[in-house]
Amino acid sequence: MQESLTIIDNRTGKQYELPIEYGAIRANDLRKIKLTDDDFGLLSYDPAFMSTASCKSRVTFIDGDKGILRYRGYPIEQLAERSTFLEVAYLLLYGELPSQSELDQWVHQITYHTFIHENIKKLMDGFHHDAHPMGMFVGTIGAMSTFYPDAKRIFDPDVRQKQIYRLIAKVPTVAAFAYRHSTGKPYVYPDNDLSYTANFLNMMAKMTDRYKPHPVLEHALDVLFILHADHEQNCSTNAMRGIGSSHADPYSCVAGAASALYGPLHGGANEAVLRMLLEIGSKDHVPEYIRRVKEGEFRLMGFGHRVYKNYDPRATIVKEVADQVFEVTGRNPLLDIALELERIALEDEYFVKRKLYPNVDFYSGLIYQAMGFPLDMFTVLFAIARTSGWLAQWNELLHDQEQKIARPQQLYLGEGERDYIPMSRRGTPVTVFGQ
Ligand code: ACO
Repeated sequence: MQESLTIIDNRTGKQYELPIEYGAIRANDLRKIKLTDDDFGLLSYDPAFMSTASCKSRVTFIDGDKGILRYRGYPIEQLAERSTFLEVAYLLLYGELPSQSELDQWVHQITYHTFIHENIKKLMDGFHHDAHPMGMFVGTIGAMSTFYPDAKRIFDPDVRQKQIYRLIAKVPTVAAFAYRHSTGKPYVYPDNDLSYTANFLNMMAKMTDRYKPHPVLEHALDVLFILHADHEQNCSTNAMRGIGSSHADPYSCVAGAASALYGPLHGGANEAVLRMLLEIGSKDHVPEYIRRVKEGEFRLMGFGHRVYKNYDPRATIVKEVADQVFEVTGRNPLLDIALELERIALEDEYFVKRKLYPNVDFYSGLIYQAMGFPLDMFTVLFAIARTSGWLAQWNELLHDQEQKIARPQQLYLGEGERDYIPMSRRGTPVTVFGQ
């Protein structure tokens, strides 16, 4: 039996039956509900897409109430423990774990696309010395579309595949160059003998000799990349799909998605958490800080999530990784403040009632800082990992026959039609422009 929803429009008394599929009605079916034949039809109003599914996807599954996250069906805990970031990127993009030869080929392709054009390097030189690396990342990835004009042929599978190799391979290079530029150090070219994460760390830290990261730190960064690789229809992925729906090239799409990630309510939260911990300064100041959060003065960064109404499963893994990292680097003194914040918040009625738990970004910044990354690189690290998820979602979008250019409706509440007023008859303005 087909599941359905019966709606009676009390304005007209008419009854409608709407099919339910996968626990959803099609919002377009609401358009049948009309007052008159030329009526546009009923809309659903959903600011911030709180209750709107914008696509069917087979990439990532989240159950926010139970704290479950799976990539292509595999629990995040198993992937974090047993896989590598590049293997996970393959899984996200192609739907299955690779065979050994597929993995070797994939790693080879990524490794041999890591260099960036010398003119991209020159372009990065033009940024101001204190440019935020995330701003440099966004600008440089966008500019890369001009270096690969073939990327516009998004419906050619070979061309698309090439850009996937290029983007996943080059984002660590762009990220590391942005950092080296901001510190005035010479750029370090990719080293194809190293793993994905070791190469990135080498490009960040090398001076005269090759930088040899401690294996625990190399592994920790790889796990953090796995945890950040995809998260279904979040703000930046929605931007990726929105831009992709206009058939823009993938560099422009990734630049747009990275811009969305930059904001402090999304990927910028890991940096904001560290700034918050530094501002709190000591464990004793935590109760006062929590009081101000509860009074609505500001938010507790790294807490709360649109879909997780339970402990973010990634935060649990990050906490374990933090312990391993601190054994090598020494304990980050800010950890005590973070633990105290978490302890008090998890007991406090304000947070309990609103189901606010630590999210992935609450502890990840502490690890990055202990590893020596400057604060303004944190979101760039997130962007490196999420590029694989953005591309997987973009690929899925382009194969989805039901998708079209993304174009929401609006509820227009502005003025009705009125005649133009000549300047001489406008009088003194009663409102200030911008208010
Ligand atoms: N601190 C204090 N109060 C909070 C917080 C917080 N971090 N997050 C939500 N609340 C409160 C809100 O004030 C609201 O209270 P009210 O009902 O009394 O008005 C209630 O909880 C619900 O909040 P919403 O804003 O409706 O929740 P939403 O789902 O829109 O927001 C978000 C999710 C943006 C993540 C939010 O929790 C937040 O701002 N957190 C801090 C920033 C952060 O850590 N972002 C990273 C998210 S993870 C990621 O992107 C990788």
